[in-house]
Amino acid sequence: MGVNVLDEIRVTGGRPLRGNISVQGSKNAALPMMAASLLHRGISVLRDCPKIADVYCMEEILKELGAVSWWKGKDLYLDCSRADKTEIPGEKTGKMRSSVILLGAMLGRNGKGAMGYPGGCVIGKRPIDLHIYALRSLGAAVREGEEDISASCVRLKGAKVCFPKSSVGATEQGILAAVLAEGESMLMGCAREPEIIWLCRYLKGMGAEISGEGSGCIRIRGVRELKGGDLEIPADRIVTGTYLCAAAATRGKITINNPPAGEVDAFLKVYRKIGGQYEWNSGKLIADGSGVGCPLPYLETEIYPGFPTDLQSPLMAVLATIPGKSHIRENIFEDRFKLAGELNRMGARVTVSGRDAWIQGTDSLTGCRVEAEELRGGAALILAALAAEGETVISGCSYIRRGYEHICRDLAAVGGRIEEKTGKVLYENIQIQEKNNIN
Ligand code: EPZ
Repeated sequence: MGVNVLDEIRVTGGRPLRGNISVQGSKNAALPMMAASLLHRGISVLRDCPKIADVYCMEEILKELGAVSWWKGKDLYLDCSRADKTEIPGEKTGKMRSSVILLGAMLGRNGKGAMGYPGGCVIGKRPIDLHIYALRSLGAAVREGEEDISASCVRLKGAKVCFPKSSVGATEQGILAAVLAEGESMLMGCAREPEIIWLCRYLKGMGAEISGEGSGCIRIRGVRELKGGDLEIPADRIVTGTYLCAAAATRGKITINNPPAGEVDAFLKVYRKIGGQYEWNSGKLIADGSGVGCPLPYLETEIYPGFPTDLQSPLMAVLATIPGKSHIRENIFEDRFKLAGELNRMGARVTVSGRDAWIQGTDSLTGCRVEAEELRGGAALILAALAAEGETVISGCSYIRRGYEHICRDLAAVGGRIEEKTGKVLYENIQIQEKNNIN
């Protein structure tokens, strides 16, 4: 594996963004659909799949299990005919939280599975108790070891699963385990995020019998086998919101060519509250950030369809450019204000206490060296840098690449002065020098 010894994004701010942007396929829809492909002993296709680090990581894990994968342009082909291994090493699962849902898929396919614990990350502890509860409810014997977790069953049995709290991943876990279980399952207290609906759409295309997705109660009638999946991955609602925040931070005006209609309503409500304007026009979303300037007295992140936690950091970057006091409460993850310290280095005044952050914004952020520590906070640094005076150098960009396929190229194409440098990349015995400059 290569190690990026120099991995920087250089941004010169101060110019409003203008122009049209197309949004990549959704990371959080693609990953569970990739896991679901394990439930068919043949070829499945994910069309318009984002080429991002997390998708490559999931692809590697599926190949570890015996799958064969290949790309045709933006379409990812997964042949799981012989993907019958049932162990995933910790160094693979530790990299990515969503690997844990493969347990339900392995149980559905082979009646057993084992893996290292999934990666936690800086935004919170990321427990998996609800995942384990779902699998045990469906008849799996689950052993929680020191280093790894394993599960087995003769055949999963349909059951009633009542989640005590909403969890996207645990809902996906329950669905993946129930579609090949014997008999009927009723999953209550489910997450209602669009990614759940897309996963069910993909599985129904494979022959699964599912109803109620998008509500809190999902009914599944187990079937004996599933055929190959084939679905176009929807535009990423979080990337869409991130780009709208870029327009707001620079007081620019952009058109999103392929917005995920109906999936960004809570965000647009807030966008209007801070002074942004937008209109839908023949399937495109035109957003005018020139009037952005009203601080936000209070906002809390919520489960869908509330304001998404994944847009909390990009919004904080916008609020840092608005003089006056704004207040955000982060209800989903216990430690998702890592961005605050870096914004303060750029001249904002953000104070954090537990799940609350108060942002005293300024119209004179100044560029400096900052560091990304996780995916959405890293993307938010690019937005703040685009609004700041002078040059900002962002390190830790590998976090950003986990979820954004072309954020630098996309924002440069609408006027952002962004230079993405991956410098010397040291591989074992091979040293290559590559430098992509984007202006
Ligand atoms: C998914 O994570 C997304 N990741 C996250 O996006 C997103 O922030 C999150 O849902 C909430 O919308 C993917 O889809 C790959 P949860 P997930 O289970 O499934 C607690 C991004 O930036 N919980 O809905 O891990 C948990 O600690 C990422 O793209 C338990 O207590 O989120 C959290 O407080 C970040 N026990 C809350 O539930 C469990 O067993 C919601 O987590 C599971 C979760």
